[in-house]
Amino acid sequence: MKYTFPKDFWWGSAASGPQTEGTFEGDKKGQSLWDHWYDQEPERFFNQIGPDNASYVYKRYKEDIALMKETGHNSFRTSIQWSRLIPNGVGEVNQEAVAFYNEYINELIENGIEPFINLYHFDMPMALQEKGGWNNRETVDAYEIYAKTCFELFGDRVNKWFTHNEPIVPVEGGYLYQFHYPEEVNMKKAVQVAYHEALASAKAIAAYKRMNLDGEIGIIVNLTPSYPRDENNPEDVKAAEIADAFFNRSFLDPAVKGEFPADLIDLLKNINHLPEVKDGDLAIIKENTVDLLGVNYYQPRRIKAKESKVKAATGPMPDDYFDNFEMPGRKMNPYRGWEIYEKGIYDLLINLKEDYGNIPCYISENGMGVEGEERFINKDGVIEDDYRIEFVKDHLKYVHQAIQEGSDVKGYHMWTCMDNWSWTNAYKNRYGFISVDLDNEGARTIKKSGHWFKEVSDENGFDEE
Ligand code: BG6
Repeated sequence: MKYTFPKDFWWGSAASGPQTEGTFEGDKKGQSLWDHWYDQEPERFFNQIGPDNASYVYKRYKEDIALMKETGHNSFRTSIQWSRLIPNGVGEVNQEAVAFYNEYINELIENGIEPFINLYHFDMPMALQEKGGWNNRETVDAYEIYAKTCFELFGDRVNKWFTHNEPIVPVEGGYLYQFHYPEEVNMKKAVQVAYHEALASAKAIAAYKRMNLDGEIGIIVNLTPSYPRDENNPEDVKAAEIADAFFNRSFLDPAVKGEFPADLIDLLKNINHLPEVKDGDLAIIKENTVDLLGVNYYQPRRIKAKESKVKAATGPMPDDYFDNFEMPGRKMNPYRGWEIYEKGIYDLLINLKEDYGNIPCYISENGMGVEGEERFINKDGVIEDDYRIEFVKDHLKYVHQAIQEGSDVKGYHMWTCMDNWSWTNAYKNRYGFISVDLDNEGARTIKKSGHWFKEVSDENGFDEE
């Protein structure tokens, strides 16, 4: 069967500023919370490799863009680092950064690759984090100014903007499950942080609309479809709905419908954990929904009714309402510890079609992190990552099916273009279409999957029985 995708489908990949750029003498970048955390606790990072060491894109973007062309990209997403553009979070704009992002964006356009630009990818400027980061309302104002600055500087050429990448992750990582700085466990702050992120997004959208530019603006959310252990067990179903409210609808609903989910509000009200909201905020959120939705999909969430004891010591937690369920026989990516469930991508697209007005969307991340890929290098020095080709193909088939059934999904970006720095996992798991050899000055080599992706993009699809 031939899987053909709609005309002008977006083929490409995604990355972020903090995971790729690196820091260099004279670049005048300010510290983000990652730079600070690495300075404080380098042992938290795999092999003690920090963000300063990312894939040197700051210097090598021209070479990288040439490789994007060779791997069939017609579009590519990255993020501006707030701490590079405005080193203190507020105030002076770094002209070195302006020059860099201008050249990077122009080079993409000149090579026929449309830049999709995201404004926030987990990287709070440290000067703002010291004052509470997203927990502090002042950060919302600072972010609005930062967003406007980006639109003014680059909005004449960039036509696809995103306010956040996976806004739930700084909430989970920083304030619930301790995998991001400041590693707190504090539901009150978690809720306030989430609320401020959602408000900041709406304010940036409002600012963008006021400027009457030609492009579109949206948000990128990671959707983890929540499946109950047993669909016929009402307790399991309820638990899965609560997990869905916390981790999916918390951002999806305000972004697309302009309202927070009623069940989540009720739950937070019951435990006296509603955020502080100012007059007029909810109208801003209501009026400034997204034009376009980016969806990152890696894994489903399997849920069962709460069986384990609630941990009183931590205070309220989302997990007070459900347990994660290890489904027997599930297919796993053992390196990352994430389940692979291809049909999840179809289920979420159909959900967007049916419950979210078929909002225009695209798959903004999907991919497979694998450790020790050197094992698969062939005699020509190319990594034969057939498992990645399989992974992408199996997901694309379900994207194709969703399109047949009317989903308005406009593209597929894989995570990521070239192997990059994965936060505390640093360079443990590799995700790219292109390998980066850290022992050889970051030398780039296209993997088998990158060559395959070029054919898919050229053909606008693939053949498969
Ligand atoms: C997404 C993020 O969560 O998944 C990326 O947007 C991230 O920043 C990617 O790198 C893969 O996850 P990880 O944790 O293995 O890097």
